[in-house]
Amino acid sequence: MSNPRVARLMEDLFQAINGLVEKHQVTHEEYRAAVAFVNEAAEKGETMLLFDAMLESDIVAANSVESRGTPRQVLGPYYLEDAPWIEDGQLAKPEEEGERLLLSGTVRDVDGSPISGAVLDFWQADAKGRYGAFDLPPRTNMNLRGRMHSGEDGRYALHTVVPAPYTIPHKGPTGRLLEALGRHPWRPAHLHLLATHDGYKPLITQIYFKGDQYIESDAVRAARNDLAFDLQDEGDHKRIDFEVVLEDAV
Ligand code: DHB
Ligand code: FE
Repeated sequence: MSNPRVARLMEDLFQAINGLVEKHQVTHEEYRAAVAFVNEAAEKGETMLLFDAMLESDIVAANSVESRGTPRQVLGPYYLEDAPWIEDGQLAKPEEEGERLLLSGTVRDVDGSPISGAVLDFWQADAKGRYGAFDLPPRTNMNLRGRMHSGEDGRYALHTVVPAPYTIPHKGPTGRLLEALGRHPWRPAHLHLLATHDGYKPLITQIYFKGDQYIESDAVRAARNDLAFDLQDEGDHKRIDFEVVLEDAV
């Protein structure tokens, strides 16, 4: 059964590739190297990383045109479903190392009305740039991953630690490709958020820190200055106010 959308996209995709082959007179050797590269990425479990790093930002941008909500960001390869529900917004355990951060604000619709009962699902690297489950085994390690609801007045408060910049895995094919392109593997420090509520479009975003040296050269080309915030000094902790704006579902 023919699917017109698939047919259209695949025709255009191969037209672009065929054009590129012609333009650069791609050799048979180069062709074989390309196939071997894709194969290696798959064998090393890097398919998701490779596509996320090279393409996901563009997918997000293409789908954010005319958005009135909080700017959207890539999901990235480190989201896990079923993160624990956290009590009192405590994402970081007392023994977690790093500078304390209070991230708080209000969840609103595009007209500014508060949205209570939104699910806020946060995940982040630790103060050494390590993700639970991926950099910190075992596979079930839910460190610095947690879900909460926005309150009556749409407000939320997350108690956590400031994450560190992070290199995407660069010892395999994805890293080799970045290097060949003259790109480094660093992502600026960031927190991830997936915010959902019935009747609204799910929002996937990230929060960055002003002054981070990698904002302008993010390995996955996702970071943007309008999502970079000052870490306000509150003595024993830092603070960021972050408003979450959800668009109506269509
Ligand atoms: C990617 C995204 C992340 O948030 C991250 O921490 C690592 C990699 C990515 O898009 O490849
Ligand atoms: Fe990340």
